[in-house]
Amino acid sequence: MRNFPVLAAKAASVAVLLGAIGILPAVAQAADTDLVKQGKELAFDRKLGNCLACHQIEDGVSPGDIGPPLFAMKARFPNKSDLRAQLWNPTKSNPESRMPPFGEYEILSADQVDAIVEYLYTL
Ligand code: HEC
Repeated sequence: MRNFPVLAAKAASVAVLLGAIGILPAVAQAADTDLVKQGKELAFDRKLGNCLACHQIEDGVSPGDIGPPLFAMKARFPNKSDLRAQLWNPTKSNPESRMPPFGEYEILSADQVDAIVEYLYTL
């Protein structure tokens, strides 16, 4: 068994890999929660998303009512990319929209828009 140390090393790395696969979902979930938290901060930040200027959102203080209240987002936007498109450039679906084109006009970065979409999907 001259190969024993090599085999043992291989077995050990397989064990490490399997272990990593086991904890991956937990890590992914933690990342999702961070993204949702970040999205909420961006949405509520008066200098960034400032969504509360026009939308009622759960936990939001002094919301405006120029746009519809944001709730049941998953039911209203079963397709996440439609929700993202609304944030990216609302004038695509409604040329008269008074909502700022957050992505198109670079008010928010693509990553920031993604984080807000993740947050909206929890509402
Ligand atoms: C200046 C006002 C204004 C701001 C600021 C604003 N919105 Fe809007 N939003 C609107 C209006 C008005 C509508 C109605 C549909 C349209 O005109 O596009 C709307 C529609 C929406 C919709 C579609 C809702 C539905 O059920 O059809 C979503 C989602 C949304 N806004 C998210 C956001 C988010 C997230 C932010 C912050 C990043 C934001 N809005 C900032 C005015 C605003």
